[in-house]
Amino acid sequence: MQQELARKRHWTLADIPWRQFDATRVDPEVLKVVKAAAMVEHNGRDYSAYLCSVFHDDPEFQDVARGWAEEEVQHGKALAAWACLADPAFDFEASFKRFTDGYKIPVDAKSSVRGSCTGELVSRCIVETGTSSFYGALMDASEEPVLKAICRNIAADEHRHYKLFYDNLRRYLKLEKVGRWERLLVAIRRIRESDDDDELPYAYFAANAGPEARYDRRRYAAAYSCRAFASYRKHHVQRGVAMMLKAVGLSPNGRLNALLTRLGCWFIARQNRKLAVAA
Ligand SMILES: [Fe+2]
Ligand SMILES: [Fe+2]
Repeated sequence: MQQELARKRHWTLADIPWRQFDATRVDPEVLKVVKAAAMVEHNGRDYSAYLCSVFHDDPEFQDVARGWAEEEVQHGKALAAWACLADPAFDFEASFKRFTDGYKIPVDAKSSVRGSCTGELVSRCIVETGTSSFYGALMDASEEPVLKAICRNIAADEHRHYKLFYDNLRRYLKLEKVGRWERLLVAIRRIRESDDDDELPYAYFAANAGPEARYDRRRYAAAYSCRAFASYRKHHVQRGVAMMLKAVGLSPNGRLNALLTRLGCWFIARQNRKLAVAA
């Protein structure tokens, strides 16, 4: 699996066509979301520490988690570099410190908060589904050529990360025999967590709020999500739904996909209306 990460030379920041940057094509609302995403991505090593703690007796998976985290950190660096080009006043280091001072991951957890290693891997698949869809949508929507190139690279990585966790999920399913219902519950809880968890709202706050502002989860969660979902189109939702269904052991394409895609599109349209009202 580690070889899979290294098989093809991974892109670097030097591969990004920085000279093509066009300030006139920067969408200020997208810039806010990119700054927040840079925080979360750059914090990847803490996630890897958490995963190594949970999978303490699986050195093979620990290697995968460490390699994965380095790619996530690189995503953070690329997004931060673009945000600094688009907004030279953006102080990434100061914002990142503000983020990590206020948001902590339980890096020394001895077991998964998802109840089992299988549950943890289902949850990782859900997260990579979200990031893969997010960067794919942002790539399609962005008119700024450098951001488009960065998102193309990141979206491909996120899809490969999904596959990495999915392959390990299949391995753990044979060991732990966690049923489909249990996996489905983990997935639902992880999706619902996006509303209850502080990670993205706090990242949005740390990257965008002025020094006098006070953190309010509901306010910053809404600010983040309505901007993050603005780029989604039906095919992004459909593909994301298929990836999630596959992770819980259900048929990825079929009636359930069609129903959940309709539901997802309705939810996103509602978020987009909120953005229009806020604007
Ligand atoms: Fe990432
Ligand atoms: Fe990822």
